Amino acid sequence: MLPTPYVKCDYHKVYEPAEDSFLILDCLEKEHEFLKQRFSNSLAIVCEIGSGSGIVTTFLMQNKIIPQENSIHLAVDINPWALEATLDTAKLNSCKNNFLEVIQTDLNSSIRNNQVDVLIFNPPYVPAESVPDVPESREEADQWLDLALLGGKDGMAITDKLLQQLEQILSPDGVAYILFCARNKPKEVIQTFLNSYRWNVKLVETRKAGWEVLSVYSFTRR
Ligand SMILES: C[S@@+](CC[C@H](N)C(=O)[O-])C[C@H]1O[C@@H](n2cnc3c(N)ncnc32)[C@H](O)[C@@H]1O
Repeated sequence: MLPTPYVKCDYHKVYEPAEDSFLILDCLEKEHEFLKQRFSNSLAIVCEIGSGSGIVTTFLMQNKIIPQENSIHLAVDINPWALEATLDTAKLNSCKNNFLEVIQTDLNSSIRNNQVDVLIFNPPYVPAESVPDVPESREEADQWLDLALLGGKDGMAITDKLLQQLEQILSPDGVAYILFCARNKPKEVIQTFLNSYRWNVKLVETRKAGWEVLSVYSFTRR
């Protein structure tokens, strides 16, 4: 079993790693061999959208889930505090040999098309009336934290946006790992997605977490 990074953040500002984060780690551990083979001969651009505390990006770097040492890790979050936390977590776990860049942006809006080889997204998936507005100042800690959880209708407002961009985001060999909860109606969402796009979608991990059922699916081009 691969080690879990040590994380120490201010959880008034940044999402605290929880069952969803750990399910993503287990999924990446399970996919280790597949990713090793797929990217054994080339540098990979690995992008985590919504990096929060940085636990997932650090896990990838610490455990060399992508084998090439010089691979580039991009950690994107809309919350500025999350980017500081991501850098701190990487440092705390001595991830020195990887190139890590953090970017404050909305989803993939600052990322060049078709460049990302491995995409990971643990989104705000809790159903809510709407997605909260982006706070006007950095200091509105609670409001930044709301953005980590509340996903609008069916909890799918943000994930839907990303799914619609997947063609533009991923490189030809790219793979995306996206987490859903049962209230997101993942089977319906994926069927609708497959009706519009030519992709392979695979259930990698699923787990009951309290009263919630969480699943991670992988997406690759057909
Ligand atoms: C459920 S948390 C996951 C955090 C971390 N990846 C983990 O697994 O513990 C969702 C993260 O997505 C970020 N986020 C929400 N909406 C976003 C958006 N539109 N663009 C980028 N990041 C976003 C939040 O700030 C939060 O850090």
